[in-house]
Amino acid sequence: MKNNKIILGVTGGIAAYKSADLCSKLTAAGYDVHVIMTASAQQLITQRCFQTLSRNPVICSLWDVPEWKPEHIELSEAADLMVVAPCTANFLGKYTHGIADDALTTTALAFTGPMLLAPAMNSRMWAAPAVRENCRILTERGVHFVGPGKGRLACGDDGVGRMSEVPEILEKIKQLLPLQD
Ligand SMILES: Cc1cc2nc3c(=O)[nH]c(=O)nc-3n(C[C@H](O)[C@H](O)[C@H](O)COP(=O)(O)O)c2cc1C
Repeated sequence: MKNNKIILGVTGGIAAYKSADLCSKLTAAGYDVHVIMTASAQQLITQRCFQTLSRNPVICSLWDVPEWKPEHIELSEAADLMVVAPCTANFLGKYTHGIADDALTTTALAFTGPMLLAPAMNSRMWAAPAVRENCRILTERGVHFVGPGKGRLACGDDGVGRMSEVPEILEKIKQLLPLQD
């Protein structure tokens, strides 16, 4: 059996458009990508975009369940790696504190494999004590991080908070889940 199944969580950060490119490059590299979008992410980019790029159905709601077994539980059991890119301050908070109120946070809580987060937010949000503390706790639990980088932010500020560029995220994914021939 191939170990190439990735859950790609997309949250409501403006960098969600970069996540479409990440999805495309992961699929092209040979990963089996299953996207879960939050409600906020769906305000910024469409389900159809990820469905086409991943060639798999996209989960947008906990309640959209065609099979007897909820998809988020099935996916959390089957996946080899979970990546959340972009990862909002909101997701960081919920994941740290065990809140499961949508398909993505519920899947994240049920998933026991390696987790990679690519945070993206305004630099003052990134510097906020609550966010710093959440990152510290998650790092202690063995969660992997890539970025954020420094540079021009969508809000007009310049600082730390930019989501890492796709090649850097891809590299980290390949380290955590090398593709087997
Ligand atoms: C246009 C727009 C861009 C946003 N970008 C970000 C962002 O980059 N990072 C972030 O943490 N929140 C951002 N937010 C706020 C989140 O969308 C908001 O906190 C939301 O509750 C996140 O929900 P989610 O984590 O379930 O996707 C943005 C909001 C808007 C309206």
